[in-house]
Amino acid sequence: MFRIVVLLSGRGSNFRAIFEDLKERNALAQVVGVVSDKSSAEGLKFAEANQIPCFVVERKVQEQSQKIFFEKLTCTVLDLKPDLVVLAGFMRLIPTELVDALLGKIINIHPSLLPAFKGLKAQQQALTAGVSQSGCSVHFVVSEVDSGAVIAQASVPVLPGDTEQSLSSRILLEEHKLYPKVVRLIVESKVRLENGAVVTE
Ligand code: GRF
Repeated sequence: MFRIVVLLSGRGSNFRAIFEDLKERNALAQVVGVVSDKSSAEGLKFAEANQIPCFVVERKVQEQSQKIFFEKLTCTVLDLKPDLVVLAGFMRLIPTELVDALLGKIINIHPSLLPAFKGLKAQQQALTAGVSQSGCSVHFVVSEVDSGAVIAQASVPVLPGDTEQSLSSRILLEEHKLYPKVVRLIVESKVRLENGAVVTE
């Protein structure tokens, strides 16, 4: 069984879309754990309701150094022996040791057409820049934020009068289609990372 570990910090709607897609298709893959840096993350409730083991690795300011947080996070994820780590709205940096240990096995979704608008508030960045198209990208994770090789993208129009919320909702609908599709491709060994580039079968 192909082992998927999901990392999230909040709502977890992409996690739900992936989980449901795998279930519907009886895929030979299973979400074996959900790891969050927030005990209050809504995505954990869905995981619990579906009997998926949950792990909370919190970093409380001043109580823990970044180093300890990174060590705990790395151990928690590696202990789950993942074939694939799916970042689904995980709002922390990924420790370099984890990226190195799992290179080509960690993916992320970002709400812009990368390389445009990396970082936080990508949808607002697109509105501020006045572009007519935006969208979402799924990419392999490297140490530099939102910078790994892009596996797939979906675009949406930016419409007159769009707000951050309306554009985010339009993009999110595409995320829920694109992310499960990419997870499936990886599970089926149809996409992989080789020498920093995406190779498709
Ligand atoms: C999505 O917009 C995703 O692109 C970004 O974080 C958000 C997560 O949403 N990385 P959800 O928690 O999956 O609903």
